Amino acid sequence: MAGKPQIPNLAEIWNDIKSGKIISDISKSVTESQVWTSSFRHGYADTPRNRVLQIVSNVWLHLHPVKIHRHALRIKFTWCMGGITFLMFLVTVVTGVVLMFYYRPVGEYAYFDMKYLQYDVPFGMLMRNMHRWAAHSMVITVWLHMLRVFLTGSYKPPREFNWVIGVFLVTFTLLLSFTGYLLPWDQLAMWAVTVGTNMARGTPFLGHEGPFAEFVGVTSRYDARSVLLGGSLVGPPALLRFYVLHCILIPLVAGALMIVHFWRIRKDGGISGPL
Ligand code: HEM
Repeated sequence: MAGKPQIPNLAEIWNDIKSGKIISDISKSVTESQVWTSSFRHGYADTPRNRVLQIVSNVWLHLHPVKIHRHALRIKFTWCMGGITFLMFLVTVVTGVVLMFYYRPVGEYAYFDMKYLQYDVPFGMLMRNMHRWAAHSMVITVWLHMLRVFLTGSYKPPREFNWVIGVFLVTFTLLLSFTGYLLPWDQLAMWAVTVGTNMARGTPFLGHEGPFAEFVGVTSRYDARSVLLGGSLVGPPALLRFYVLHCILIPLVAGALMIVHFWRIRKDGGISGPL
């Protein structure tokens, strides 16, 4: 025989909510479930050794050092410029992937895709401007970071290797900016890249008008400029080459160099400090 339906006791439920019992019951059932315990090996007693274990046994947390010097957190010393440069890089990557959904690097479409993206796609203008401003900021902050490293003498041994990695990073940051400039495929882009790539004619060894060109044997048909453009003029082949360089090759190389840069900071004993 069916019993009387159980009427929940509202006063008891309210007491459980007020005392936090419901929240602690829910969090206990989540953190003790098999899904949770197989994903996160946390929850040890709070001792200094276990705190270290928590960091090193988590794939995301282990990207951070377990211990850092107190001065490494002082904005006055680092200006946080390296960190902000990295943040700007991440913003350009995320917004850049969104832009890639709408943009085709083809002579007939590129300009109109940009206009469509800017005026018709929801949040398109926001994405385009975030990409643009994050890219501009990255160029500014990378120089400020380099200036800080120079002023604090942080390029000195044992950090000279990381300074050299940094020189490559600043070069790749500028190359990212330069290759992105052609993609809107408007008059400004065409002529800016015409001027920029004309400078490649004068590259030592690799440009046909540069020093030692005759030594290597490069000609106007096959030198740094024509390889970059895929021809002798800024045309559709140049657009495709700049697109591949901008969206794939240079970000991959820059990302790999950043990984080495960050790893090396740790191996050099963390961020340098005031004497
Ligand atoms: C995409 C470009 C770059 C990124 C994302 C980046 C990122 C960082 C970060 C996060 C740090 C930790 C300290 C801080 O934030 O100041 C750092 C340190 C350092 N960076 Fe960079 N960096 C870049 C470019 C450069 C450049 C252009 C140079 C120099 C040519 C450089 C040389 C160094 C050196 C020597 C250190 C160690 C500084 C110290 O121990 O005080 N980096 N970098």
